[in-house]
Amino acid sequence: MTPLRVGLLGCGFMGRTHAQVYRLLPEVELVGAWDDDPERLEAACAEFGCRPEAGLGADPVSAEGIDVVDVCLPTALHARATIAAARAGKHVVCEKPIARTLEEADAMIAACETKGVRLLIGHCIRYWAEYAELRRIVQSGELGALTSLNLTRYGGFPHWSSRDWLSDEAQAGGAVMDMHIHDTDFALDLLGEPDETVSFGTVDRRGVSQVFTTMRFGRCTVHAEGGWNLPAGTPFAMTFRAVFEQGAAIFEGGSLTVYADGEEPRRPAFARMAGAGGGNIDDLGGYALELADFVDALRTGREVTVVTPQSARRSLATVLEETRQVKARL
Ligand SMILES: NC(=O)c1ccc[n+]([C@@H]2O[C@H](COP(=O)([O-])OP(=O)(O)OC[C@H]3O[C@@H](n4cnc5c(N)ncnc54)[C@H](O)[C@@H]3O)[C@@H](O)[C@H]2O)c1
Repeated sequence: MTPLRVGLLGCGFMGRTHAQVYRLLPEVELVGAWDDDPERLEAACAEFGCRPEAGLGADPVSAEGIDVVDVCLPTALHARATIAAARAGKHVVCEKPIARTLEEADAMIAACETKGVRLLIGHCIRYWAEYAELRRIVQSGELGALTSLNLTRYGGFPHWSSRDWLSDEAQAGGAVMDMHIHDTDFALDLLGEPDETVSFGTVDRRGVSQVFTTMRFGRCTVHAEGGWNLPAGTPFAMTFRAVFEQGAAIFEGGSLTVYADGEEPRRPAFARMAGAGGGNIDDLGGYALELADFVDALRTGREVTVVTPQSARRSLATVLEETRQVKARL
């Protein structure tokens, strides 16, 4: 079978992370890459053995021999790149959040539907082993109903972004949109539409820098906190604490422990795949499962069910509402 030919747009932290995953997938060939920073482009092409492909950035129609465009650009550039790639008949992987605004997200979804190409938004936490295990426990009912879920995501401000685009709220949307969206997205995917969402937080020159959101889903309460306003160098950490009628699942310090009433605690082991993209994630696992799922869906013609474009749009809509509430309450 001929490999699926991928073109990578953006060779920063996430672009390099995706490129590492493609190297591990035998049915994929990373054929071309583009970045408007010549040094980053040259380094990525040398490391991953692909050609510089200017067409990816300017005119994807001319990027011949490419089946999938992988958009790892700053968030405010997702829409333009995705729409151009879709119009050129390419399938698209695009990093989260889907876009900076709902209007852009709608235009991206419409462009892909019109051309009959697939769109995967990189909500990797839905594929992350510990979070997928939590979803399995909730859906199996083995610990009874979920009564509360606490999600956190914190770190010092990520200084790796090119031209410091993460500091520009117009491009990144602050910590609430760039970082905390992972937890909002996970909660919505797990539990559906909340009855109520209430957010408080802090704002600095980069937008919402820390957010505290409480959501009610029937009898289950979710509290998600996140921010990048810790002192420089504070390590990134993500955690959850899920309380059930007959147990709990606690993910902290990078490991998951499951407590069931009357039983010894269980520590599920998951395969680790070290990554070196240069950002704050040291495990390729969730990214590898996400991209492998998309590649398999393209090859077999099945739908991707874990992350749909509409569900990514819903997560964007929710973080925009969280942002509105934080600012309104200051
Ligand atoms: N899923 C995750 O866990 C995760 C983690 C971090 C970032 N992200 C998302 O990935 C996206 C990229 O973030 P990043 O951390 O890789 O940023 P980055 O700054 O490290 O990389 C962006 C790259 O795009 C290039 N670029 C910028 N404008 C360009 C243009 N007009 N044409 C061509 N190249 C251009 C830059 O030179 C840079 O190499 C963002 O949407 C971010 O929210 C997702």
